[in-house]
Amino acid sequence: MSTNFDQIEKDALEALAAAADSAALEKWRMACLGRSAPLMAALGTLGTLPKEERKAFGQRGNQVKQALERAFEEASDRIGHAELASALAAGAIDVTAPGRRRGRGRLHPATQTLRRIYAIFAEMGFQIYRSREVETDELNFGLLNMPPHHPARDMWDTFYTTAPNVILRTHTSPGQIHVMRERCPQPIRVILPGMCYRYEQITARSEIQFYQVEGLAVGRHITMADLKGTLTAFAHALFGPGVRTRFRSDHFPFTEPSAEMDVECFVCDGRGCPVCKQSGWLEILGCGMVHPEVLQNGGYDPREFSGFAFGMGPQRITMLMHKIEDIRYFFANDLRFLEQF
Ligand code: PHE
Repeated sequence: MSTNFDQIEKDALEALAAAADSAALEKWRMACLGRSAPLMAALGTLGTLPKEERKAFGQRGNQVKQALERAFEEASDRIGHAELASALAAGAIDVTAPGRRRGRGRLHPATQTLRRIYAIFAEMGFQIYRSREVETDELNFGLLNMPPHHPARDMWDTFYTTAPNVILRTHTSPGQIHVMRERCPQPIRVILPGMCYRYEQITARSEIQFYQVEGLAVGRHITMADLKGTLTAFAHALFGPGVRTRFRSDHFPFTEPSAEMDVECFVCDGRGCPVCKQSGWLEILGCGMVHPEVLQNGGYDPREFSGFAFGMGPQRITMLMHKIEDIRYFFANDLRFLEQF
C-alpha cells in the first residue's frame, strides 16, 4: 500500500491547528476535505487496488476522513466562539458609561435683558402689545405731535420706502397711537417691545436696527409721580434695590413735560469711570407725560385722561450691564461673544 493515511492525517491536523480564523478554516476545508484534497485523491484509487486490500484501505481512509471532519467541526466551533466573543467585545455597550453631553443653546444677551424687562413690568400689571415695524409717516411723526417739516423730526434719521409716506418706524412710540385707538376709552397699561430702524452710520454706538421697549399708561388720575414711581421701581428691580435714580428734564414733542432717567453708574457705584464718562450716572431711558395732543389723537379726552410714556433701548442697557463696548456684536452672531452669556 503506497498511500500513507497516517501522513495525510498528521499533515492535515497540523495545518488545522495553525488556522486562526474562519477564513483560514475555510481554506483548510477546501484543501484537506475538498474534491482535490490528497485524502480524496487517495480514496479515489480504491477501485484500482486488488480486491483483498480494498476493505482495509477503505476503512482506514474513512476513519481518517471522519477524524478530519470531526477535527474541522471542533475547530470551527472554537474559532466561531472566539470571533463572536471578540465582535461582542468590540461593539460592547457600557451601560454604566455617562451620556454624551448635548451642546445646550442659550438666549442672546439682549433677549435675556428683554425677558427681565418683560417680567418686571408684568409684575406691575403691564401687558405686552406688539405693534408694527412698517409705519406711515403720520403715525411715526404726525400723530405724535410732529407735523411735516417739524424740526424735531431731525432727531430720527428715517428709512423711507418707495411707497409714499410709508417708512420703517424710527421708534416704538407710534405703537402708543395704535393701542390708544384700540383700547379707548379703557385705561391702558402696556409695554411695546420691538425693532426700530434708523438711517445712521453704523458705529460702535449705533446700529441701523435696534430694539426699543416703549411703555404707556393712560387713565383718569395718572400723574408724574406715577411715572417716577413706576420707573424707579423698574430700575430697582433691574439694577438692584439700592441703586439711585434721577430724572433730568428733556424734550420730546409727544410728551409734556419730558424727562430722561439716569441710574447711578453700577460700574463705579457713582464714583465716576469711563463707562459713565466720569459723571457717575448712566442714561437709561426717555419719558414724560403723554402730550394732550397725542392723547387726543389716540381718542382720549385730555381734560379727563392723562398718561405717561417711556422708551428705552434694551441693547444699550445690556451693554452697560455687561460692559459691552460695541453694539455691532449684537447682530454679528459671533459665538465667541455669545458664549460669554
Ligand atoms: N421715542 C423716544 C425715542 O426714541 C423715546 C420716548 C418714548 C420718549 C416715550 C418719551 C416717551 O427717543
